[in-house]
Amino acid sequence: MNEKKSEASASKALGVVFFLAGFIGALVLGWVVFPNLLYSQKAQPMNFSHVAHADNDCESCHTFRPDGTYTGVPRLDKCKECHETAQGTTEAERILVEEYVEKNREPMWKNYAWQPDNVYFSHAPHKGQGLECIRCHRDVTKEEKLPAYRENLITGYSISTMKMTECEECHAQKGVSNNCEICHK
Ligand code: HEC
Ligand code: HEC
Ligand code: HEC
Ligand code: HEC
Ligand code: HEC
Repeated sequence: MNEKKSEASASKALGVVFFLAGFIGALVLGWVVFPNLLYSQKAQPMNFSHVAHADNDCESCHTFRPDGTYTGVPRLDKCKECHETAQGTTEAERILVEEYVEKNREPMWKNYAWQPDNVYFSHAPHKGQGLECIRCHRDVTKEEKLPAYRENLITGYSISTMKMTECEECHAQKGVSNNCEICHK
Protein backbone atom coordinates (compact mmCIF):
# COMPACT_ATOMS: atom_id res chain seq x y z
CA MET A 1 0.00 0.00 0.00
CA ASN A 2 2.62 2.49 1.13
CA GLU A 3 4.81 1.71 -1.86
CA LYS A 4 1.96 2.40 -4.28
CA LYS A 5 1.21 5.71 -2.58
CA SER A 6 4.77 6.92 -2.84
CA GLU A 7 4.88 5.78 -6.46
CA ALA A 8 1.78 7.83 -7.18
CA SER A 9 3.16 10.93 -5.52
CA ALA A 10 6.48 10.44 -7.31
CA SER A 11 4.76 10.40 -10.68
CA LYS A 12 2.73 13.44 -9.63
CA ALA A 13 5.93 15.24 -8.77
CA LEU A 14 7.38 14.21 -12.12
CA GLY A 15 4.29 15.63 -13.82
CA VAL A 16 4.81 18.95 -12.08
CA VAL A 17 8.45 18.98 -13.16
CA PHE A 18 7.46 18.32 -16.78
CA PHE A 19 4.77 20.96 -16.62
CA LEU A 20 7.19 23.54 -15.22
CA ALA A 21 9.87 22.62 -17.77
CA GLY A 22 7.39 23.06 -20.61
CA PHE A 23 5.99 26.26 -19.15
CA ILE A 24 9.38 27.86 -18.57
CA GLY A 25 10.51 26.66 -21.99
CA ALA A 26 7.55 28.41 -23.62
CA LEU A 27 8.27 31.59 -21.70
CA VAL A 28 11.91 31.55 -22.79
CA LEU A 29 10.84 30.94 -26.39
CA GLY A 30 8.29 33.75 -26.33
CA TRP A 31 10.21 36.32 -24.39
CA VAL A 32 13.84 35.66 -25.20
CA VAL A 33 14.31 33.53 -28.31
CA PHE A 34 11.59 34.89 -30.60
CA PRO A 35 12.24 38.62 -30.02
CA ASN A 36 15.94 37.94 -30.55
CA LEU A 37 15.26 36.13 -33.82
CA LEU A 38 13.38 39.22 -34.95
CA TYR A 39 16.51 41.35 -34.71
CA SER A 40 19.82 40.99 -36.46
CA GLN A 41 22.94 42.67 -35.21
CA LYS A 42 24.62 45.07 -37.64
CA ALA A 43 28.21 46.23 -37.37
CA GLN A 44 29.18 49.89 -37.13
CA PRO A 45 32.11 51.00 -39.36
CA MET A 46 34.31 51.10 -36.23
CA ASN A 47 33.96 51.67 -32.53
CA PHE A 48 33.48 55.32 -31.62
CA SER A 49 34.27 56.49 -28.12
CA HIS A 50 32.67 59.74 -26.98
CA VAL A 51 34.94 59.55 -23.90
CA ALA A 52 38.07 59.75 -26.09
CA HIS A 53 36.69 63.01 -27.52
CA ALA A 54 35.50 64.51 -24.23
CA ASP A 55 37.94 67.45 -24.63
CA ASN A 56 35.87 68.65 -27.59
CA ASP A 57 32.57 70.53 -27.36
CA CYS A 58 29.57 68.57 -28.60
CA GLU A 59 28.91 71.48 -30.97
CA SER A 60 32.26 70.95 -32.70
CA CYS A 61 30.81 67.73 -34.14
CA HIS A 62 27.01 68.07 -33.89
CA THR A 63 25.72 71.48 -34.89
CA PHE A 64 22.63 73.32 -35.98
CA ARG A 65 23.06 75.28 -39.21
CA PRO A 66 21.99 78.93 -39.18
CA ASP A 67 18.68 77.93 -40.87
CA GLY A 68 17.84 75.62 -37.92
CA THR A 69 18.52 72.32 -39.73
CA TYR A 70 20.86 69.85 -38.12
CA THR A 71 24.17 68.51 -39.39
CA GLY A 72 23.78 65.18 -37.56
CA VAL A 73 26.86 62.96 -37.45
CA PRO A 74 30.10 64.69 -38.52
CA ARG A 75 31.57 63.69 -41.86
CA LEU A 76 35.02 62.33 -42.56
CA ASP A 77 36.43 65.81 -43.21
CA LYS A 78 35.86 66.59 -39.54
CA CYS A 79 37.70 63.44 -38.41
CA LYS A 80 40.60 64.26 -40.76
CA GLU A 81 41.29 67.47 -38.85
CA CYS A 82 42.89 65.29 -36.18
CA HIS A 83 43.23 61.77 -37.66
CA GLU A 84 45.19 62.32 -40.89
CA THR A 85 47.54 59.83 -39.17
CA ALA A 86 46.84 57.72 -36.11
CA GLN A 87 47.42 59.37 -32.72
CA GLY A 88 47.09 56.22 -30.67
CA THR A 89 47.31 52.47 -31.16
CA THR A 90 43.73 51.23 -30.91
CA GLU A 91 42.14 48.94 -33.51
CA ALA A 92 39.28 51.41 -34.04
CA GLU A 93 41.68 54.20 -34.95
CA ARG A 94 43.64 51.90 -37.27
CA ILE A 95 40.37 51.15 -39.13
CA LEU A 96 39.56 54.86 -39.30
CA VAL A 97 42.95 55.78 -40.80
CA GLU A 98 43.54 52.79 -43.09
CA GLU A 99 40.00 52.08 -44.28
CA TYR A 100 38.48 55.54 -44.36
CA VAL A 101 40.98 58.44 -44.20
CA GLU A 102 43.56 56.94 -46.58
CA LYS A 103 40.88 55.65 -48.98
CA ASN A 104 38.83 58.81 -48.63
CA ARG A 105 35.73 56.72 -47.85
CA GLU A 106 32.87 58.12 -45.77
CA PRO A 107 32.05 55.88 -42.74
CA MET A 108 28.37 54.85 -42.92
CA TRP A 109 27.34 55.22 -39.27
CA LYS A 110 24.10 53.58 -38.28
CA ASN A 111 22.06 55.87 -36.10
CA TYR A 112 20.30 54.27 -33.15
CA ALA A 113 17.46 56.79 -33.36
CA TRP A 114 16.57 56.48 -37.06
CA GLN A 115 12.85 56.67 -37.76
CA PRO A 116 10.88 54.85 -40.48
CA ASP A 117 10.65 56.75 -43.78
CA ASN A 118 6.96 57.53 -43.19
CA VAL A 119 7.79 59.52 -40.06
CA TYR A 120 8.80 63.15 -40.31
CA PHE A 121 11.20 64.28 -37.62
CA SER A 122 13.38 67.34 -37.54
CA HIS A 123 15.53 68.62 -34.69
CA ALA A 124 14.70 72.18 -35.72
CA PRO A 125 11.31 72.63 -33.97
CA HIS A 126 12.66 70.80 -30.91
CA LYS A 127 15.65 73.11 -30.59
CA GLY A 128 15.25 75.85 -28.00
CA GLN A 129 12.47 73.92 -26.21
CA GLY A 130 14.72 73.19 -23.24
CA LEU A 131 14.99 69.51 -24.25
CA GLU A 132 18.33 67.85 -23.58
CA CYS A 133 19.72 65.33 -26.05
CA ILE A 134 19.23 62.55 -23.47
CA ARG A 135 15.48 63.18 -23.42
CA CYS A 136 15.43 61.31 -26.75
CA HIS A 137 18.88 59.66 -27.04
CA ARG A 138 21.00 57.51 -24.77
CA ASP A 139 23.64 59.31 -22.67
CA VAL A 140 26.82 59.10 -24.76
CA THR A 141 29.04 61.16 -22.49
CA LYS A 142 30.44 58.18 -20.54
CA GLU A 143 30.42 55.85 -23.51
CA GLU A 144 33.70 54.21 -24.56
CA LYS A 145 32.06 51.60 -26.77
CA LEU A 146 29.12 51.91 -29.13
CA PRO A 147 26.29 49.59 -28.08
CA ALA A 148 25.24 46.72 -30.35
CA TYR A 149 23.12 48.01 -33.23
CA ARG A 150 20.07 45.77 -33.59
CA GLU A 151 17.89 45.97 -36.66
CA ASN A 152 14.33 44.63 -36.93
CA LEU A 153 14.29 42.04 -39.73
CA ILE A 154 10.75 42.94 -40.75
CA THR A 155 10.77 46.73 -40.60
CA GLY A 156 14.51 47.29 -41.04
CA TYR A 157 14.61 49.84 -38.22
CA SER A 158 16.73 50.08 -35.12
CA ILE A 159 15.41 48.49 -31.93
CA SER A 160 16.04 51.76 -30.05
CA THR A 161 13.90 53.94 -32.32
CA MET A 162 11.55 56.17 -30.31
CA LYS A 163 8.01 54.78 -30.30
CA MET A 164 5.03 56.79 -31.51
CA THR A 165 3.45 56.80 -28.04
CA GLU A 166 6.57 58.47 -26.60
CA CYS A 167 6.46 61.28 -29.18
CA GLU A 168 2.73 61.72 -28.56
CA GLU A 169 3.05 61.74 -24.77
CA CYS A 170 5.47 64.65 -24.77
CA HIS A 171 3.49 66.52 -27.44
CA ALA A 172 0.35 66.17 -25.33
CA GLN A 173 2.20 67.40 -22.23
CA LYS A 174 3.60 70.44 -24.06
CA GLY A 175 0.36 71.25 -25.86
CA VAL A 176 1.77 70.39 -29.31
CA SER A 177 -0.66 69.01 -31.88
CA ASN A 178 -0.91 65.24 -32.28
CA ASN A 179 -2.63 65.32 -35.69
CA CYS A 180 -1.39 62.43 -37.80
CA GLU A 181 -0.15 64.85 -40.49
CA ILE A 182 2.28 66.49 -38.07
CA CYS A 183 4.50 63.38 -38.00
CA HIS A 184 3.33 61.46 -41.09
CA LYS A 185 3.68 63.58 -44.22
C1 HEC B 1 34.69 64.14 -32.43
C2 HEC B 1 33.32 64.25 -32.83
C3 HEC B 1 32.23 64.10 -31.79
C4 HEC B 1 32.05 64.82 -30.62
C5 HEC B 1 32.97 65.88 -30.02
C6 HEC B 1 30.78 64.40 -30.06
N1 HEC B 1 30.21 63.44 -30.87
FE1 HEC B 1 28.37 62.62 -30.67
N2 HEC B 1 28.70 61.41 -32.27
C7 HEC B 1 29.85 61.40 -33.04
C8 HEC B 1 29.78 60.31 -34.00
C9 HEC B 1 30.85 59.94 -35.03
C10 HEC B 1 28.53 59.68 -33.78
C11 HEC B 1 27.96 58.48 -34.54
C12 HEC B 1 28.07 57.22 -33.76
C13 HEC B 1 26.75 56.56 -33.75
O1 HEC B 1 26.42 55.90 -34.72
O2 HEC B 1 26.05 56.69 -32.74
C14 HEC B 1 27.87 60.42 -32.71
C15 HEC B 1 26.59 60.16 -32.23
C16 HEC B 1 25.93 60.93 -31.28
C17 HEC B 1 24.54 60.79 -30.90
C18 HEC B 1 23.54 59.90 -31.57
C19 HEC B 1 23.34 58.66 -30.83
C20 HEC B 1 22.30 57.84 -31.53
O3 HEC B 1 21.15 57.87 -31.13
O4 HEC B 1 22.66 57.18 -32.51
C21 HEC B 1 24.30 61.68 -29.89
C22 HEC B 1 22.99 61.91 -29.15
C23 HEC B 1 25.53 62.36 -29.63
N3 HEC B 1 26.50 61.90 -30.48
C24 HEC B 1 25.68 63.32 -28.64
C25 HEC B 1 26.86 63.96 -28.34
C26 HEC B 1 27.05 64.82 -27.20
C27 HEC B 1 25.98 65.16 -26.17
C28 HEC B 1 28.34 65.27 -27.27
C29 HEC B 1 29.07 66.17 -26.28
C30 HEC B 1 29.10 65.65 -24.92
C31 HEC B 1 28.95 64.68 -28.45
N4 HEC B 1 28.03 63.87 -29.06
C32 HEC B 1 30.24 64.92 -28.89
C33 HEC B 1 30.88 62.29 -32.95
C34 HEC B 1 31.07 63.22 -31.92
C1 HEC C 1 39.80 67.72 -32.35
C2 HEC C 1 40.51 66.49 -32.70
C3 HEC C 1 39.70 65.26 -33.03
C4 HEC C 1 38.66 65.12 -33.94
C5 HEC C 1 37.98 66.20 -34.75
C6 HEC C 1 38.33 63.71 -33.97
N1 HEC C 1 39.14 63.02 -33.11
FE1 HEC C 1 39.12 61.01 -32.79
N2 HEC C 1 40.53 61.22 -31.31
C7 HEC C 1 41.13 62.41 -30.96
C8 HEC C 1 42.03 62.16 -29.85
C9 HEC C 1 42.91 63.20 -29.16
C10 HEC C 1 41.93 60.78 -29.56
C11 HEC C 1 42.65 59.99 -28.47
C12 HEC C 1 43.93 59.46 -29.05
C13 HEC C 1 44.20 58.11 -28.50
O1 HEC C 1 44.60 58.01 -27.36
O2 HEC C 1 43.94 57.13 -29.23
C14 HEC C 1 41.00 60.22 -30.52
C15 HEC C 1 40.68 58.88 -30.59
C16 HEC C 1 39.89 58.32 -31.59
C17 HEC C 1 39.68 56.91 -31.78
C18 HEC C 1 40.30 55.80 -30.94
C19 HEC C 1 39.58 55.76 -29.61
C20 HEC C 1 39.34 54.38 -29.08
O3 HEC C 1 38.89 54.31 -27.92
O4 HEC C 1 39.55 53.39 -29.78
C21 HEC C 1 38.80 56.77 -32.82
C22 HEC C 1 38.26 55.49 -33.43
C23 HEC C 1 38.47 58.09 -33.27
N3 HEC C 1 39.14 59.01 -32.50
C24 HEC C 1 37.56 58.35 -34.27
C25 HEC C 1 37.22 59.62 -34.69
C26 HEC C 1 36.20 59.88 -35.70
C27 HEC C 1 35.40 58.83 -36.44
C28 HEC C 1 36.15 61.23 -35.84
C29 HEC C 1 35.23 62.02 -36.76
C30 HEC C 1 33.80 61.79 -36.56
C31 HEC C 1 37.11 61.82 -34.91
N4 HEC C 1 37.72 60.80 -34.24
C32 HEC C 1 37.34 63.17 -34.77
C33 HEC C 1 40.94 63.64 -31.56
C34 HEC C 1 39.98 63.92 -32.50
C1 HEC D 1 12.74 65.36 -29.23
C2 HEC D 1 13.67 64.27 -29.38
C3 HEC D 1 15.11 64.56 -29.75
C4 HEC D 1 15.98 65.44 -29.14
C5 HEC D 1 15.71 66.39 -27.98
C6 HEC D 1 17.26 65.28 -29.82
N1 HEC D 1 17.16 64.33 -30.79
FE1 HEC D 1 18.62 63.69 -32.07
N2 HEC D 1 17.31 62.53 -33.07
C7 HEC D 1 16.00 62.32 -32.69
C8 HEC D 1 15.35 61.45 -33.67
C9 HEC D 1 13.91 60.98 -33.61
C10 HEC D 1 16.34 61.16 -34.64
C11 HEC D 1 16.18 60.30 -35.91
C12 HEC D 1 15.81 61.21 -37.06
C13 HEC D 1 15.62 60.49 -38.35
O1 HEC D 1 15.20 59.35 -38.39
O2 HEC D 1 15.90 61.12 -39.39
C14 HEC D 1 17.57 61.83 -34.23
C15 HEC D 1 18.77 61.77 -34.92
C16 HEC D 1 19.98 62.27 -34.42
C17 HEC D 1 21.29 62.09 -35.02
C18 HEC D 1 21.56 61.35 -36.32
C19 HEC D 1 21.29 62.27 -37.46
C20 HEC D 1 21.66 61.72 -38.78
O3 HEC D 1 21.36 62.42 -39.76
O4 HEC D 1 22.25 60.63 -38.88
C21 HEC D 1 22.21 62.71 -34.22
C22 HEC D 1 23.72 62.81 -34.41
C23 HEC D 1 21.47 63.32 -33.13
N3 HEC D 1 20.12 63.05 -33.29
C24 HEC D 1 22.05 64.05 -32.11
C25 HEC D 1 21.34 64.80 -31.19
C26 HEC D 1 21.96 65.74 -30.25
C27 HEC D 1 23.45 66.01 -30.13
C28 HEC D 1 20.95 66.28 -29.52
C29 HEC D 1 21.04 67.33 -28.44
C30 HEC D 1 21.59 68.62 -28.89
C31 HEC D 1 19.69 65.70 -30.00
N4 HEC D 1 19.97 64.83 -31.01
C32 HEC D 1 18.42 65.99 -29.49
C33 HEC D 1 15.37 62.85 -31.59
C34 HEC D 1 15.87 63.85 -30.78
C1 HEC E 1 10.29 65.60 -24.90
C2 HEC E 1 9.29 66.22 -25.71
C3 HEC E 1 9.14 65.82 -27.16
C4 HEC E 1 9.33 64.60 -27.74
C5 HEC E 1 9.78 63.30 -27.08
C6 HEC E 1 9.02 64.76 -29.14
N1 HEC E 1 8.65 66.05 -29.40
FE1 HEC E 1 8.10 66.78 -31.24
N2 HEC E 1 7.88 68.64 -30.40
C7 HEC E 1 8.03 68.95 -29.07
C8 HEC E 1 7.73 70.35 -28.86
C9 HEC E 1 7.76 71.10 -27.53
C10 HEC E 1 7.37 70.88 -30.14
C11 HEC E 1 6.84 72.27 -30.44
C12 HEC E 1 7.83 73.22 -30.97
C13 HEC E 1 7.14 74.54 -31.31
O1 HEC E 1 6.25 74.94 -30.55
O2 HEC E 1 7.49 75.09 -32.32
C14 HEC E 1 7.49 69.77 -31.09
C15 HEC E 1 7.24 69.89 -32.43
C16 HEC E 1 7.29 68.84 -33.35
C17 HEC E 1 7.02 68.96 -34.75
C18 HEC E 1 6.62 70.25 -35.48
C19 HEC E 1 5.19 70.51 -35.21
C20 HEC E 1 4.61 71.62 -36.05
O3 HEC E 1 3.61 72.19 -35.62
O4 HEC E 1 5.14 71.88 -37.13
C21 HEC E 1 7.14 67.71 -35.30
C22 HEC E 1 6.95 67.31 -36.74
C23 HEC E 1 7.51 66.81 -34.22
N3 HEC E 1 7.60 67.54 -33.05
C24 HEC E 1 7.73 65.46 -34.38
C25 HEC E 1 8.13 64.60 -33.36
C26 HEC E 1 8.36 63.18 -33.52
C27 HEC E 1 8.20 62.42 -34.82
C28 HEC E 1 8.75 62.71 -32.31
C29 HEC E 1 9.13 61.31 -31.91
C30 HEC E 1 10.11 60.63 -32.74
C31 HEC E 1 8.76 63.83 -31.39
N4 HEC E 1 8.36 64.95 -32.06
C32 HEC E 1 9.09 63.73 -30.05
C33 HEC E 1 8.39 68.08 -28.07
C34 HEC E 1 8.70 66.73 -28.22
C1 HEC F 1 4.10 62.98 -32.56
C2 HEC F 1 4.36 62.18 -33.72
C3 HEC F 1 3.31 61.23 -34.25
C4 HEC F 1 1.96 61.46 -34.40
C5 HEC F 1 1.17 62.69 -34.03
C6 HEC F 1 1.42 60.26 -35.02
N1 HEC F 1 2.43 59.35 -35.22
FE1 HEC F 1 2.20 57.48 -36.08
N2 HEC F 1 4.20 57.12 -35.78
C7 HEC F 1 5.09 57.98 -35.19
C8 HEC F 1 6.36 57.34 -35.07
C9 HEC F 1 7.61 57.93 -34.46
C10 HEC F 1 6.22 56.03 -35.64
C11 HEC F 1 7.31 54.96 -35.78
C12 HEC F 1 7.65 54.31 -34.49
C13 HEC F 1 6.63 53.31 -34.08
O1 HEC F 1 6.30 52.42 -34.88
O2 HEC F 1 6.11 53.43 -32.94
C14 HEC F 1 4.84 55.93 -36.07
C15 HEC F 1 4.28 54.80 -36.68
C16 HEC F 1 2.98 54.72 -37.13
C17 HEC F 1 2.43 53.59 -37.82
C18 HEC F 1 3.16 52.32 -38.14
C19 HEC F 1 3.05 51.41 -36.95
C20 HEC F 1 3.96 50.27 -37.02
O3 HEC F 1 4.00 49.53 -36.04
O4 HEC F 1 4.70 50.13 -37.99
C21 HEC F 1 1.12 53.86 -38.10
C22 HEC F 1 0.12 52.99 -38.84
C23 HEC F 1 0.85 55.21 -37.57
N3 HEC F 1 2.01 55.69 -36.99
C24 HEC F 1 -0.37 55.86 -37.67
C25 HEC F 1 -0.65 57.07 -37.09
C26 HEC F 1 -2.00 57.69 -37.08
C27 HEC F 1 -3.24 57.09 -37.72
C28 HEC F 1 -1.88 58.88 -36.42
C29 HEC F 1 -2.96 59.90 -36.10
C30 HEC F 1 -4.06 59.38 -35.28
C31 HEC F 1 -0.46 59.01 -36.02
N4 HEC F 1 0.21 57.89 -36.43
C32 HEC F 1 0.07 60.11 -35.35
C33 HEC F 1 4.83 59.28 -34.76
C34 HEC F 1 3.59 59.88 -34.76
